[in-house]
Amino acid sequence: MTPVSLLWAVLVSMCLGPSVAQTVTQPQPEASVQEAGTVTLDCAYSTSESDYYLFWYKQLPSGEMVSIIRQYAYERQNATNDRYSVNFQKETKAFSLRISDSQMEDAAMYFCAYSGAQ
Ligand SMILES: *[C@@H]1O[C@H](CO)[C@@H](O)[C@H](O)[C@H]1NC(C)=O
Repeated sequence: MTPVSLLWAVLVSMCLGPSVAQTVTQPQPEASVQEAGTVTLDCAYSTSESDYYLFWYKQLPSGEMVSIIRQYAYERQNATNDRYSVNFQKETKAFSLRISDSQMEDAAMYFCAYSGAQ
């Protein structure tokens, strides 16, 4: 089993929308997982809005940012996409990404992002 290193950002702040600043925080600088294993990347966010989207992006080796999963704040189910799923906790404003059956190509930078819905 080869360890897969998942590097990701310590802190990403985004300011989207006219006046309100929201932040997302990724508390761990990196995580590693055995091939075929499952890894969780945490993200906490703050906002005073109730209607918004949350995303996880993966940065490809080319630098391109690809949206891998999207959660709408009023959706009652955790979003899933292939080997990706999230644990969305609106009450505590937590949005972790879970990658199952980890592959070598999962080694990348992952970014959590917030977008207001209006
Ligand atoms: C996502 O899954 C977790 C763990 O099962 C659960 O606690 C949480 O309520 C779920 N969130 C949504 C939006 O369904």
